[in-house]
Amino acid sequence: MLLFLLSSFISADALYNRGEYLYFAKACSSCHGPSAEGSSSAPKLANKSQKHLEKKLHDFKNGKVFNSNQEMMSQFVRVFSDKDIKAISVFLSQHKKKNLPDVADDILGGVGS
Ligand code: HEC
Repeated sequence: MLLFLLSSFISADALYNRGEYLYFAKACSSCHGPSAEGSSSAPKLANKSQKHLEKKLHDFKNGKVFNSNQEMMSQFVRVFSDKDIKAISVFLSQHKKKNLPDVADDILGGVGS
């Protein structure tokens, strides 16, 4: 049990780090901001719930898109494996720049949604 707990901590950390790497390597930060705080052209992502982020990313990946911004997001996300999506969602939902206020899911929603 202890070992299980330990290993789940370690893998959660590895996911966070991988998510952080992908977020910057895949230029997500160029629209969503270096602290995932959002910008005039993209919604804030930091500290939204992991469940919400994963669902959104899977929808984009699976082509469930309803406007041109989401279509564009779909292009970015298409290359990600399910594990990548999980990693990015872990990173964003547990975002460590704690100066950002938490946002309840869907209060900001997506731009134009
Ligand atoms: C060219 C600018 C741009 C880039 C680059 C970009 N996004 Fe987005 N993203 C947007 C816009 C605009 C939306 C809002 C789409 C909509 O209308 O719902 C969005 C929506 C999202 C959402 C849904 C947010 C919500 O709560 O509805 C997530 C998650 C997301 N992007 C993650 C990413 C990730 C991860 C990357 C890097 C692979 C990325 N984005 C790259 C512009 C961008």
